[in-house]
Amino acid sequence: MEREKSRQLDDLKQSIIKSRICPELAEQATQLVMGDGNPNADIVFIGEAPGKKEDEQGLPFVGAAGKFLNEMLAAADMERSDVYITNIVKYRPSNNRDPLPEEKAAFLPYLLRQLEIIDPKAVITLGRHSMEYFLPDAKISQIHGHAVRKKVVYHDKKEHEWLIIPLYHPAAALYNGGMRSVLIDDFVRVPDIIKNKK
Ligand code: URA
Repeated sequence: MEREKSRQLDDLKQSIIKSRICPELAEQATQLVMGDGNPNADIVFIGEAPGKKEDEQGLPFVGAAGKFLNEMLAAADMERSDVYITNIVKYRPSNNRDPLPEEKAAFLPYLLRQLEIIDPKAVITLGRHSMEYFLPDAKISQIHGHAVRKKVVYHDKKEHEWLIIPLYHPAAALYNGGMRSVLIDDFVRVPDIIKNKK
């Protein structure tokens, strides 16, 4: 089962490359950063886009924000190998600029397919960019740490309901020390939030 999902994720990666999604981003990136962790995970984390370290290593969240993400996972008694971590945009935007709306839109069908393959119990959005995908009208300052059930219609009209838990982006704590405890508090509650919403 797990190997089957890995194969489907590999096929999805190849189809992003073959379909030449965001060719300008692809051209200046070292590689496509698809995801990391367990393809059979109950929890999928979605960040924004790879940074420099992620682009070099081909893995999401391996730089400074990733180090803090690992710390929060440990605080919540989770390991990277238990969960699956990915980004909306799968190529590094140059100079770490924010991904453009059209870049995020171009990757949306692939992100949804990625979620469909993994079929997690909960989707945790990290930061405003990935939250807006699922909860366009929400304010992160009001909704962080709260679970919302959300129906998503796939391009092929298939409907799926996800449990979305929006959290602040781990990088927020690198710029604002006060955010650190907010993020950790939200993070350690995640396993209970999922259990209570089942
Ligand atoms: N920030 C993100 O949103 N994603 C990464 O992979 C790294 C940093």
